[in-house]
Amino acid sequence: MIIAIDGTTASGKGTIAKRLAARYGLPHMDTGRLYRATAVAAIKQGVALDDAARLATIAARLDLTHFDEAELRTGEAGKAASKVAVIPEVRQALFDLQRAFAIQASGALLDGRDIGTVIAPDADVKLWVDANVEQRGYRRWREYLGYGQAITLEEVVKQLRIRDERDQSRKDAPATIATDAVLIDTTDLTIDAAVEKAIAAVEAVLARGKTV
Ligand code: DC
Repeated sequence: MIIAIDGTTASGKGTIAKRLAARYGLPHMDTGRLYRATAVAAIKQGVALDDAARLATIAARLDLTHFDEAELRTGEAGKAASKVAVIPEVRQALFDLQRAFAIQASGALLDGRDIGTVIAPDADVKLWVDANVEQRGYRRWREYLGYGQAITLEEVVKQLRIRDERDQSRKDAPATIATDAVLIDTTDLTIDAAVEKAIAAVEAVLARGKTV
């Protein structure tokens, strides 16, 4: 079974993805990490975030074991990731890796922005996870405080709006809802309740005879 989980930044999709992957014993790929790692490596090597050729080379040679998780999780890395993700050559360089992961014999779960539309349009379950921007901003702001990053809630919400706009308006593989995706709005849901909805979507497909 292939499960595709797409959605907006700080919607809860990452947590839902981890919990579903554990429940169904599926290997999980957080595809945002690929874009974050490409961006972080570029910044370290002094490569401009619009240098398509050099960014594509970095993306094609990514060794994810070289990255420190905390370094990939910063707001700066997320913002830079969203910029490099606009570049078709970068997306192309990361495509094969993601596609191969999606079609492995054991099944797979991938989360990102274009999994249900571009990487695995053939996925058995597609979820689109979203929440209103104020709620997402509040969650992200609390995380930043936890890491000791000084930033105002207003600034976090502003940054999320910019990220949403960039991710959704890019020409190549924009973050869009697949026509056959199940929508989960987590604005007023606890994480447990959101995970329950995601499980229900998987169970509906299993009930039709698909196996994990
Ligand atoms: O999910 P995230 O915040 O880690 O993603 C960081 C950026 O990477 C996001 O702003 C857009 C980009 N991205 C993408 O374009 N396609 C994906 N499948 C995953 C992430």
